[in-house]
Amino acid sequence: MESSNIKEDTTLVSKKSSDDAIKMELTGPEDGTQYRLRIKNIPKFASAKMMKEFLAKNGCEQVKIQKAPKWDYCFVTLKTEVRQLYVLNKLKGIKFKNRELSIQIDNVTEKDRQALFDKRKNEKQQNIEQSGIQKSPEEMLADQVTPLHIYEYQVQLEIKQRGIIKSLETFRDKMGELYNKSQYHSSWLQEEFDFKLPLDLKPIIHSPVLEGYRNKCEFTAGLNLKGEKTVGFLLGAYKDGLNTVLEPHNSIHVSDVAKKIAKAMQSYIRQSLYDVYDRKTKQGNWRQITVRSQKCGDIMIIVQIHPQGLSKEQIDQEKGALAEYFKMVAKEENFDLTSLLVQTYSGVSNGMSEDPFDCTFGTPFIHEEMMNCRFQISPRAFFQTNTAAAELLYQQCGDILEEIYKSKDFSESPTLIDMCCGTGTIGIALSKSLGTKIKGVVGIELCKEAVEDAKINASLNEINNAEYILGPVEKNLSALYNFSNKASGTAVAVVDPPRAGVHKNVIKALRKCRAIEHFIYISCDHNAAIQNFVDICRPINKDFTGAPFKPVKAIGVDLFPHAKHVELIIEFRRNREDSEKLKSDKLTDVPSTSQLKDMSSTSVSQDIETKKNFSD
Ligand SMILES: C[S@@+](CC[C@H](N)C(=O)[O-])C[C@H]1O[C@@H](n2cnc3c(N)ncnc32)[C@H](O)[C@@H]1O
Repeated sequence: MESSNIKEDTTLVSKKSSDDAIKMELTGPEDGTQYRLRIKNIPKFASAKMMKEFLAKNGCEQVKIQKAPKWDYCFVTLKTEVRQLYVLNKLKGIKFKNRELSIQIDNVTEKDRQALFDKRKNEKQQNIEQSGIQKSPEEMLADQVTPLHIYEYQVQLEIKQRGIIKSLETFRDKMGELYNKSQYHSSWLQEEFDFKLPLDLKPIIHSPVLEGYRNKCEFTAGLNLKGEKTVGFLLGAYKDGLNTVLEPHNSIHVSDVAKKIAKAMQSYIRQSLYDVYDRKTKQGNWRQITVRSQKCGDIMIIVQIHPQGLSKEQIDQEKGALAEYFKMVAKEENFDLTSLLVQTYSGVSNGMSEDPFDCTFGTPFIHEEMMNCRFQISPRAFFQTNTAAAELLYQQCGDILEEIYKSKDFSESPTLIDMCCGTGTIGIALSKSLGTKIKGVVGIELCKEAVEDAKINASLNEINNAEYILGPVEKNLSALYNFSNKASGTAVAVVDPPRAGVHKNVIKALRKCRAIEHFIYISCDHNAAIQNFVDICRPINKDFTGAPFKPVKAIGVDLFPHAKHVELIIEFRRNREDSEKLKSDKLTDVPSTSQLKDMSSTSVSQDIETKKNFSD
């Protein structure tokens, strides 16, 4: 029913509430009941984020929203029944987008969940039988984790390049519509490069390594088809009623050392008195093992345990035993164990939690080397999963920056604003390779540990002119205000966001920031980033008041052989030609005079308004 395309917004709003009764409990209800409300009669276009903002505005915070684009309803999940009733009461009589809302309690009990799980499992099985395709479980897993594995690598690259072209065509068509509607000129849209695209799309760059390239693998502890304790990948998705785990020995993107560690952990768990965690019954202890195996040889192992039924002494005993065991495995298998961490987590979701790590061997971080730099990586920090290909990605950004630098008569070297900077890799690597062509680096990043790593990494690599800001880019645009009144061309931004792209406020601020004439967008999901591309280039309107940019060049870099994804770099440049032309045109439509002014400069009042809207 609600399986596909669901956008979840699970961030917790952190405003303080005076009402103690509605304070969220840290743990969920004991009986596993999910306290859910179904809000009906909302427009289909309303996103999970919009609903979350609407609820927050009405005093309902700390909620989880589920909403798919085609639904005219959404689910709101609360931690407790008290909160559920509170929200129900708060929303009584409130309209959303002028619509009367219909709200009903729609709780999900553990029994409902299990019934749904079984139903999906049967459906899945029937589909497999009806399709007549009898694939082995190993083949099904390979199709799942490396869906392009059946193609020669050259063909995979062609498929990826075609995907990029398709997204860029959609972007072009959307821009065409927008420019046709407005009375703006769009000379760049008339330009045609190869593939009839209004930007220069370069041939895709292939990964230097095709197998075992992943430096981070998250394995699940579960049961295989014979019911044996196994460490590997979940076959299928749990939501489809599948919870079988298969060993990764045939997974071509997993490194040999990661396979050895998974196997060793499997042997350990098979001898353990404790069970693997079962997501259906919520019983058992062994949950997950993450292996980070860097190109430079550093290895981090993170073991996640559900502490239920275990005393502190038993957990401590396991921690000690795991340290001894993996020291022995490292010696036998001839690898350097740099870090062994254990995390206890009692929640129900998958993946790493916010709970602390206990470092039971080595250091609580590892290092990686790339582009003549050395980077510290903490367990929670993001690092590109294919180091050798990431180097090519960064080099491409460096080449673009160098071209930008050469093409313009800079009064000074530009500052690099590294948005979503992770451990600081892009800013630091490019500072190092481009030297004085970059004046300094300002990095903005959401993950606290990554920011701490970035600061250390800057000094490790003797970059003395880097500063880092902790927090979501959309709420920490002060770095941009600092440049708002500077002459154009004094800053270049690199935006490397997660899959979904950046918040539109980031694009608004980029457009308003006078200093930025060029910026580079790196997307690991070009399809999801189309809306960002459109907002970057769309004609001025009351929301996007800064002068638009135009795309100049794009290039794909394949960091994920055999998988579907590809990194796409797009260079955008401020669309000055059209802006200048616009000034001399008679416009009957949007924008207003004040917005027109903003085409070439950011007014003080707008600056203040921006600060109000976007800063912390
Ligand atoms: C694709 S990674 C890129 C990291 C880095 N540029 C690199 O190449 O290693 C995206 C990064 O964005 C961070 N991030 C996610 N949402 C963010 C937000 N709203 N504001 C700032 N950073 C964010 C993530 O923590 C992650 O480190």
